[in-house]
Amino acid sequence: EKVIQVGLLGMGTVGSGVVKLLAANAQDIARKVGAPVRIKKVLVRDPEKPRPGLLPDQLVFDAAAVIDDADIDIIVEVMGGEQPAKDYILQALNRGKHVVTANKDVVAKYGRELFAAAEANHVDFLFEASVGGGIPIIRPLKQCLAANKISEVMGIVNGTTNYMLTQMTQHRLDFATALRQAQAAGYAEADPTADVGGWDAARKIAILASIAFGTRVTVDDVYVEGITTIGAEDIEYARELGYVLKLLAVAKETDKGIDVRVHPAFIPHHHPLAAVQDVFNAIYVRGDAVGETMFYGRGAGQMPTASAVVADIIDVARDIRHHVSSRILCTCYEQKPLCPIEQ
Ligand code: NAP
Ligand code: HSE
Repeated sequence: EKVIQVGLLGMGTVGSGVVKLLAANAQDIARKVGAPVRIKKVLVRDPEKPRPGLLPDQLVFDAAAVIDDADIDIIVEVMGGEQPAKDYILQALNRGKHVVTANKDVVAKYGRELFAAAEANHVDFLFEASVGGGIPIIRPLKQCLAANKISEVMGIVNGTTNYMLTQMTQHRLDFATALRQAQAAGYAEADPTADVGGWDAARKIAILASIAFGTRVTVDDVYVEGITTIGAEDIEYARELGYVLKLLAVAKETDKGIDVRVHPAFIPHHHPLAAVQDVFNAIYVRGDAVGETMFYGRGAGQMPTASAVVADIIDVARDIRHHVSSRILCTCYEQKPLCPIEQ
């Protein structure tokens, strides 16, 4: 019987969740795929950390031991950061491995090159967890809403800052304490500057805009303002006026081109986005046929993110079982005009 073998690059917050979920739902997943899915090797850095759920011989400290293993069908990159993650993904694709990643830094910056490598090697490259944590949004945009001309994608796409703003509003926590709590909960990036500076949200909206508008949008095309200058007085001011402060990401078609931005905004209390609290994210997509749709759920955290990563693994494993691949790849068809970034 064919066993689908997985090589994991990274076993931190998300990687540990993937290990847990593949073990907890192993029988169900095997039924859905038609074959068992097993983790063969896991790349980590620190030999001292405990690794629950793994046998010692599954751990490796050299990426080549995973990427060059001929028995491994799927490489799952959950290390984070641009490098060496991007090089490892590219090497894996060029060795004919299917790749699943949660890494928005890499997808937003190198997506085009990686899609091309996947296409050339007839393998899958899936990245559902890169935006919205456990919320299904990449596949819905690429597949379920493919019949529509999309005019707008907008919402709350960073769990850390939404958690922080909620804590600062409801419990009057200061910025540093709220950030520490978000880090302790496993929501923040290894370097949380990207979260609070708005860059994590910018990468995510660049990915969503590229898919929604069938063009290439990079972080350089996004106006970015984070929450680093937000203090108790801004939150109090919003409250007095009947608003809630949220970090919004917006991509919409305008007369001048596609406008893509991330910035804090005052949201009226009655607006549905005002009710999106803690680590939850919500993403609106407006299409010409479907009208407005909203995707809501936990935007970060171990098990919600593992849910999206393992769903991608299951999808790839089914493709392997049925000898098909490269089903949903490059999404950039033509370069459309983008609005200049205001200073
Ligand atoms: P994390 O907790 O910092 O874990 C990173 C893991 O990768 C660790 O196991 C680390 O090894 C390993 N690693 C990092 N660099 C390495 C290197 N050069 N060589 C070998 N191993 C290396 O990160 P995370 O929160 O799980 O996030 C992983 C990815 O998922 C990121 O791209 C992130 O943006 C994305 N993501 C995270 C969330 C979330 O809620 N956390 C949600 C959606 C997407 P050690 O264990 O030995 O340190
Ligand atoms: N740091 C990210 C967030 C993780 O807080 O949204 C999920 O992508």
